[in-house]
Amino acid sequence: MAAEYVFSKIKNADRVVLGLATGRTPLGMYRHLSKYSKEYKLSLSHVHTVNLDEYVGSKAYHAYMHQNVFDPIGIPNHQTHIPDGYAVDLEKECMRYEAVIQQLGGIDLQVLGIGENGHIGFNEPGTDFSSRTHVVELTESTLSANAKYFTREKQPRKAITMGIGTILESKEILLLAAGLKKAHAVRELFKGSLNENIPATVLNHHPNVTVIADRGARSLL
Ligand code: GLP
Repeated sequence: MAAEYVFSKIKNADRVVLGLATGRTPLGMYRHLSKYSKEYKLSLSHVHTVNLDEYVGSKAYHAYMHQNVFDPIGIPNHQTHIPDGYAVDLEKECMRYEAVIQQLGGIDLQVLGIGENGHIGFNEPGTDFSSRTHVVELTESTLSANAKYFTREKQPRKAITMGIGTILESKEILLLAAGLKKAHAVRELFKGSLNENIPATVLNHHPNVTVIADRGARSLL
């Protein structure tokens, strides 16, 4: 369903800036997008992408994006953007990344996953709702949810993430949630009120959000 949604945006636009997410949840969407782009022989030269985040001292999300999205779908490399977790000056990198998004003219459609603690991108509970791209210390909840992707010593404890303010400026948002572990965060989102301790609740402030959630993630609604 998510792939059809994103594909129709790509097909019907002369130029589109997609904000993309990593994690397990969007993998099915990326697989189907790759299938559609081959079936329809669609040129993707009008698609630009900006990723939400990357670990500091790692290229884990660069690798994920190349393997699951850019290479199979065929988006030209120079039109894809991901924060550089190896930048010597991380503050400068955050500013550079904000400028990249501005130069692209902003994000047309931002795809989001959701953390078990309600984080979006890597904006952990308590993040200011007006924040811009910044460096974060990951919480224990996020570290343990993502521990399976790293050995213990090599798991980065910091990341660069688009800020909540940056995400909110996207013209449209598509949030994907899968599995029972997301049910609590999804319930909080659907309560409709804002709670800085559950960052995803800020989406109640955005005029154009679509949520696609499986049965597990919807189980507390
Ligand atoms: C990480 C990413 C988020 C993602 C979240 C959920 O923290 N930075 O962007 O939404 O994981 O991942 P998953 O879909 O694997 O549950």
